[in-house]
Amino acid sequence: MNITGIKGMNDILPGEIATWQFLEQEAHRIFQTYGFTEIRVPVVEKTELFCRSIGETTDIVEKEMYTFSDKSGNSLTLRPEGTAPVMRSFIQQKLHAQDPVSKLYYMGPMFRYERPQKGRYRQFHQIGVEALGVDDPKIDAQILAMLCDYFNSVGIDDVELHINSLGCKECRPAYRQALIDYLQDRLGELCSDCQRRSQTNPLRVLDCKVPACQDATVTAPSMLEHLCGDCDDHFKQVKDYLQGLGIDYTVNARMVRGLDYYSKTTFEMVTGSLGSQNAVAAGGRYDGLIADLGGPALPGIGFAMGVERLVLMKSADQLAEQRLPLFLAAMGQQASDRAFLLMATLQRQGLRVEMEYSSKSLKAQMRRAGKFGARFVLILGEEELARQMVVLRDMDAGTQQELSLVGLEERLLELLNETEPEPVAG
Ligand code: HAM
Repeated sequence: MNITGIKGMNDILPGEIATWQFLEQEAHRIFQTYGFTEIRVPVVEKTELFCRSIGETTDIVEKEMYTFSDKSGNSLTLRPEGTAPVMRSFIQQKLHAQDPVSKLYYMGPMFRYERPQKGRYRQFHQIGVEALGVDDPKIDAQILAMLCDYFNSVGIDDVELHINSLGCKECRPAYRQALIDYLQDRLGELCSDCQRRSQTNPLRVLDCKVPACQDATVTAPSMLEHLCGDCDDHFKQVKDYLQGLGIDYTVNARMVRGLDYYSKTTFEMVTGSLGSQNAVAAGGRYDGLIADLGGPALPGIGFAMGVERLVLMKSADQLAEQRLPLFLAAMGQQASDRAFLLMATLQRQGLRVEMEYSSKSLKAQMRRAGKFGARFVLILGEEELARQMVVLRDMDAGTQQELSLVGLEERLLELLNETEPEPVAG
């Protein structure tokens, strides 16, 4: 019996890796430009961390966590998201003592026991950022500007920024009660999940995909009408700064988030091209979270992007394969040994070169060069080698020239540096 991988957990294969690396490199580049530093935290944490931060009554904690006991009987969980572990580390390592403002980013696998489908997996990857210690709305706008900058730079434009405010500890309770009262009158129209949620987590009812629940909540009260003066002012300023930065957005008062720690600004980058898994990135403020987890009373805001969804959105024509600059085709043992040494020399100089290891016909070797999309093929034939010559074929122009073995490495490096840089995914 062949052992297969786990449902919803995917291999990322060599054919796709250029896109993944491109998306990661752009994140490193752009986030660092905005003053963020990478942080790496474990993939496993104490279960309690997620229960306390994400919320006991959320789908993630109720149904989706990979939780297990270790050999000492501790309850551990594979991280379903990155914010809680980063906050745990921030508090434990007292990062706030080093700098009152921390701007952190992370990337890596997350785990949720969801029903797998296109764009939704059980092991998936997030690239996320968290800015801690600033409550000024400038940072909200800056984070959103950075998110838009990222999407522009990776060439994904089929997205829309939706923003909302979820209020704070002062104003949300009254709104929550108003929503509970509203839902109470319509219980019969709601799905069984929402009937339960209408008491435990009423805001989630607004997010239910069941058409009957959507119909029943068309006239539901809106959080935006219940914001206290402080939250209202904060949200207005965020919108003003976004306008000042020339960032388009849509206010979506029905947007609630699936995690309980949010307050004030929340947002999602949504797309029409991924079916029901339409959020490519999502996040918001979580001003009470650090204190709730036993840390100092510092505010925070951040987002995470789903990398698999980003990859799905990069259309096939954008995924330019990395072209190989040079392929060495050798005829006969002696030529093959010479090609092997040449390949090593050029690789040491930083050039990507491939050759055929075993002896194959020239036709087979040219086929392989074609598979690599080789820009040039250097043919080392016995007859030419006897004359201290090799043949360089320009695969794009369809032309070829003879080059002398003397000074060959320098000549090749010169020539390949003159030709256009190879396109990378993007
Ligand atoms: P989230 O909305 O749960 O937020 O996830 C963020 C993004 O991760 C989603 O928009 C989606 O692109 C991706 N994602 C989530 N679940 C899956 C899945 N099962 N398969 C594939 N992709 C998925 C958070 O996780 C928050 N920690 C974001 C945040 C950071 N808020 C503040 N700071």
